[in-house]
Amino acid sequence: MKDVYSAIKVTDNVYWVGAIDWTIRDFHGYTTPHGSTYNAYLVMADDITLIDTVKAPFKDEMLSRIRSVVDPSKIKYIISNHSEMDHSGCLSEVIDFIKPEKVFASTVGVKTLKELFHDTHEITPVKDGETLSLGNMELTFMETRMIHWPDSMFTYLAKDELLFSQDAFGMHLASLERFADEIPASTLEYEGATYYANIVLPYSPVVLKTLDKVAASGMKIKVIAPDHGPVWRKDIGWIIDLYKKWASQKPTAKAVVVYATMWHSTEKMAGAISEALAQAGVKVKLLSMNETHRSEVIYEVLDAGALIVGSPTLNNNILPQMADVMTYLKGLKPANKIGAAFGSYGWSGESVKHLEAMLKEMKVEIAAESIAVKNVPDDDVLRKCHEMGKAIAAELLKRATVAN
Ligand code: FEO
Repeated sequence: MKDVYSAIKVTDNVYWVGAIDWTIRDFHGYTTPHGSTYNAYLVMADDITLIDTVKAPFKDEMLSRIRSVVDPSKIKYIISNHSEMDHSGCLSEVIDFIKPEKVFASTVGVKTLKELFHDTHEITPVKDGETLSLGNMELTFMETRMIHWPDSMFTYLAKDELLFSQDAFGMHLASLERFADEIPASTLEYEGATYYANIVLPYSPVVLKTLDKVAASGMKIKVIAPDHGPVWRKDIGWIIDLYKKWASQKPTAKAVVVYATMWHSTEKMAGAISEALAQAGVKVKLLSMNETHRSEVIYEVLDAGALIVGSPTLNNNILPQMADVMTYLKGLKPANKIGAAFGSYGWSGESVKHLEAMLKEMKVEIAAESIAVKNVPDDDVLRKCHEMGKAIAAELLKRATVAN
C-alpha cells in the first residue's frame, strides 16, 4: 500500500494519518449508516510522535499515510489516548513494526492494553497533568475517565493550540472531507448528536466536569482533533456549546412516543396520545419499533422532555422489539424525563406494568396513569389516551418553561 494514501496537514506540526471505514454499520449496537473514520495523528516535532492508531484491518492504510510524511521508523513515541480496539487494534503490530522508544498511556490505559492484547510491550503510564517534552514542543496529558472508557485521556499540544480529544467531539461519519468546516452544519449537528446519544450520553455528568476542567486549565484551544469524524478548526465554541447542551439534558417541550404493535391496537393508542401532545403545542416524535432502529430512538430522546412507551402483551411480557429498545435506553441513562406506559392485551395484560417498571428503573417520572386495553381500543379508550397526552403535555410545558 506504499504511496497510495496521503496524510492531511491539520496544523503547522500535525498531520492526520488515520483511516476511513466506509462500510462499518454497527458499533456495539449503535447503527452507523454513514460509516466512520479512525483518526490517528502525527506530531512532527523533534521527537516525532504518533497519537493513537487505528482499527486492526486499517493498519496498512495508516502506515501508508504516515509514509507520505516520514519514514515510520523515525517515530520516537506513540501515545494511546484510548485503548478501545477501534484505536488500538493494530497498536501491538505497529509497535513491533516501528519500534518506538516509548509508548505512553494513562495508568488505567496501561492495564487495559495489557488485558486486551496480552503482549510483552512496555507501556509507560502518564498521570493527569503530566507533560512530555518532544524537544521543540511539549504534550500535556489530561485524564478524562469514562469519556469513553476508564482509560481515556486527552493530549494537548500547546505549540499548535490543539487538543487531541479521542472519542469526545467525534462522530461516525466516513468522508473525504477532513475538517468540520467542509461539511454542512446540519450534517454535523445530526451526526454529532447521534454519536453523543449513542456513545457519550451515560457519562454526561463527567462531560460537564471535563468541560469545566479544560476551561479552568487555561489551555488555549484553536483546534480539536477527535478520533472519529472531522477535525474542528473553526468556531470550536459551536461544538463545545452543543456538548454542554446535550450533557445538561434540560427538559424541552418535545415528547417521544415509542411503541411496537401486533394487531394495530397499541398503534391506535399511540396515535391518540401523540395527537393530544401535538394539539397542546408539544413537538412529537412517534416511533414504531416495528420499523425503527434503537439508535434513532436515543437520538430523538436526547433533547426530549417526555418518553411515553407502549407495547401489547405477548406471552405475559412485552414485545421483543420493545425489550430491545428499553434495555438500550436504560443503559444510556437519559435524564430529566417524564413519561407513561400504554398497551393492549388479549387476556393476561402484563405489558403495561412491565413498561412502567422499566421507566421507573430509568428514573423517568411517571406523569400520567398507565392505560391497558383489552383487545381493540374503542372511542372511550382512545379519548382516555388523548387525555393522557394532554396531561403529559401540560406537565412538560411547565417543566420546559422552568428549564429554559
Ligand atoms: Fe472510538 Fe471508545 O472508541
